Amino acid sequence: MMVSPVRFLFNNDLITLSDIDPNLTLLQYLRDVQLATGTKEGCASGDCGACTVVVVDISETSSTELTYTSINACITFVTSLHGKQLITIEHLKEAEKLHQIQQSFVNNHGSQCGFCTPGFVMSCFALHKNNAEPRREDVVENLSGNLCRCTGYRAIIDGALETTKNLDDVFRRNHTQTLDKLKGLKEGPSVRFETGDKKYFAPKSIAELAVELLANPDSTLMAGATDLALNVTQNFTSFKKTIYLGDVKELTKITESLDQIIIGSAVPYSQFQAILEKEYPDFKELIERLGAKQVRNKGTLGGNIGNASPIGDMPPALIVLGAKMILQRGSETRTVKVEEYFISYKKTVLREAEFIKEIIIPKAKSGHQLKLYKISKRFDDDISAVLAAIYIRLEDDQVTAIRLAFGGMAATPKRASHSEQVLLNKAFTEQNIVLAQQQLVNDFQPLSDVRASVDYRMRVAQNLLMKCYFELTDNELNTRVTHYA
Ligand SMILES: Cc1cc2nc3c(=O)[nH]c(=O)nc-3n(C[C@H](O)[C@H](O)[C@H](O)COP(=O)(O)OP(=O)(O)OC[C@H]3O[C@@H](n4cnc5c(N)ncnc54)[C@H](O)[C@@H]3O)c2cc1C
Ligand code: FES
Ligand code: FES
Repeated sequence: MMVSPVRFLFNNDLITLSDIDPNLTLLQYLRDVQLATGTKEGCASGDCGACTVVVVDISETSSTELTYTSINACITFVTSLHGKQLITIEHLKEAEKLHQIQQSFVNNHGSQCGFCTPGFVMSCFALHKNNAEPRREDVVENLSGNLCRCTGYRAIIDGALETTKNLDDVFRRNHTQTLDKLKGLKEGPSVRFETGDKKYFAPKSIAELAVELLANPDSTLMAGATDLALNVTQNFTSFKKTIYLGDVKELTKITESLDQIIIGSAVPYSQFQAILEKEYPDFKELIERLGAKQVRNKGTLGGNIGNASPIGDMPPALIVLGAKMILQRGSETRTVKVEEYFISYKKTVLREAEFIKEIIIPKAKSGHQLKLYKISKRFDDDISAVLAAIYIRLEDDQVTAIRLAFGGMAATPKRASHSEQVLLNKAFTEQNIVLAQQQLVNDFQPLSDVRASVDYRMRVAQNLLMKCYFELTDNELNTRVTHYA
């Protein structure tokens, strides 16, 4: 087997790795191998942000731009850094001078015990590198995945806002040099190595991926690893054969045409969020509440569907919109509706050696409105107890088209067909909504778990139908709803 190592920049140092366990997390690598202990471990599950580091890469849209992305080192495998630059808290200070962001935290008393501080500073660093003039809401959105138990968030937010525009730092001065180095690192064959009984492969093309998967159908497909890494950090298991999807060119593309948006299965949320929310404004809040910035910078649509969780946030919305997927096995492809992908709990129609290539989302249909409601215990960075997706067309107060789908109400994300029938081709009245609410018990038998009880889930799902009715019929509330021309 030809070995092609993982190569990345640790600040400005070239790191070459091929004799490592592919299950080694970036946090373990930093603290145990590099002895760079500024990056902290709080939860090891992507929830607290203490381990936040920044990854620099060449922009997908401009080959002369660099993107600065905050990620959780605890749920990132070090192998996925190939072709990128890694910046940790140790790299911000220049000689004896603090970086402007660090100084702003000091000026605003933005740190007490300091355990969370490196993570907050790195999240703010990424924000300022991508956004010269962040507003308060940008800061809040970017910090929703960083938890602090002692300082209080006001001082931290003040610190984040104080940093001056157009940061002039060493990273800016080294821009061209870094860009050239990253281009060099990306050249060469796809990363491949074996250590002991573990194999790792990061194909660059879909053809390579398809061939490898046919030869090794027992491989684990890994995209952002925001779900998979928990098997390693929480369940202490490991993957023997890993195929990483993040370098596959065809899977990391977004294409837009007049009537559809095609999202490659390995595109992270933060890259497709804007295009989706422009078409369907309700995706804005849904995606902003899906994990936190660090999770959305890595997590993908293919991973959300591929994970087949009954509480994944995206499938109910994709189901009501009639989204489809292209699945590929070898050189053969087939089209499957998202609605038909899920068979039973965590079981899907995906065949051995098959993978999700892309997701095709139709653009808004004339006269239709999409409403998405996520109910979770915490507003930010929390998994849904119930998720409702409603796609409806109203003409002269009649329901002339309707699709309802729910997450968290059954073993799979699923349509509420009995309730739909009660509403279709009827007057859009409170009375008919009550009838549709009653039909939800024939559509779903939800489970009780740590997030919610059976009764709570059913009551909430029913109430969300009524909430939608009030929002669409009350003129004042209705101003918040987007109508498609
Ligand atoms: C702190 C935290 C908060 C989270 N909050 C939310 C939330 O609010 N809502 C929510 O829905 N999810 C949430 N998640 C779960 C997760 O982030 C999402 O499901 C994400 O979309 C997974 O994508 P990924 O690329 O990281 O998947 P991975 O972890 O890489 O993969 C997940 C599964 O999908 C399979 N897979 C990946 N790509 C493909 C493909 N192309 N073809 C076939 N199979 C594939 C993998 O083999 C694996 O079984 C959260 C996770 C964390 C850690
Ligand atoms: S240690 Fe908590 S998010 Fe990584
Ligand atoms: S300063 Fe102590 S946890 Fe934030």
